[in-house]
Amino acid sequence: MKGVIFDLDGVLVSTDELHYQAWKQLADELGIVNFTKEDNEKQRGVSRMESLEIVLSKGNTVYSEKEKEMLAEKKNNYYKELLQELTDSAVLSGVKETLKFLKEKGILIGVGSVSKNTPVILEKTGLLEWIDQVSCGLDITKSKPDPEVFLVAAQKLELPCSECLVVEDSAAGITAAKAAGMKSLGVGPFYQELGATYAARGLNDVHNWDELLA
Ligand code: BG6
Ligand code: MG
Repeated sequence: MKGVIFDLDGVLVSTDELHYQAWKQLADELGIVNFTKEDNEKQRGVSRMESLEIVLSKGNTVYSEKEKEMLAEKKNNYYKELLQELTDSAVLSGVKETLKFLKEKGILIGVGSVSKNTPVILEKTGLLEWIDQVSCGLDITKSKPDPEVFLVAAQKLELPCSECLVVEDSAAGITAAKAAGMKSLGVGPFYQELGATYAARGLNDVHNWDELLA
């Protein structure tokens, strides 16, 4: 492998709780009282509009496409407000050590996230300095499980897909990696169920980088 492409939310940073708080605020305003953390888990790796559908499916009101756009924007404004407080303490354990290790080995580091807030998150957490190329929601038209975000990352890194390893915490992301012809490492609470090539609870539990990069 010549490059590793990391998903952002739930892999490099713990923004999941902030996404949950923002969606919960919107749900409460819409009178949807039964939006739970379990529903929020289904939003992992899923686009903003699809995440909104998961919230709305818990209520009975039908909204027009225009109203949905406004609701998604409203949630994003709550989320952006929460992101203002983001610091490097949101960086998940093992991340900085891993990025340093890969850099020293001469491995190129990419980010592949459908989040349109990727640039601000990388900047606020201080991760930007480690990243060679960013492919995010602002670069693509199709969300995971479509491979587009990883194909764009590989293209920006100027590497063939076969030389890129994807690190992901969502099933949609692992499907996207497979569709891009890339091997994958599944991490996070569902690491055993993602169907990735390799699996580890978190980046601090990976002790076989030589095997992963072979
Ligand atoms: C993914 C998150 O990384 O980004 C999803 O796992 C989120 O929960 C998606 O919906 C889109 O993010 P944003 O910041 O563009 O709304
Ligand atoms: Mg993720």
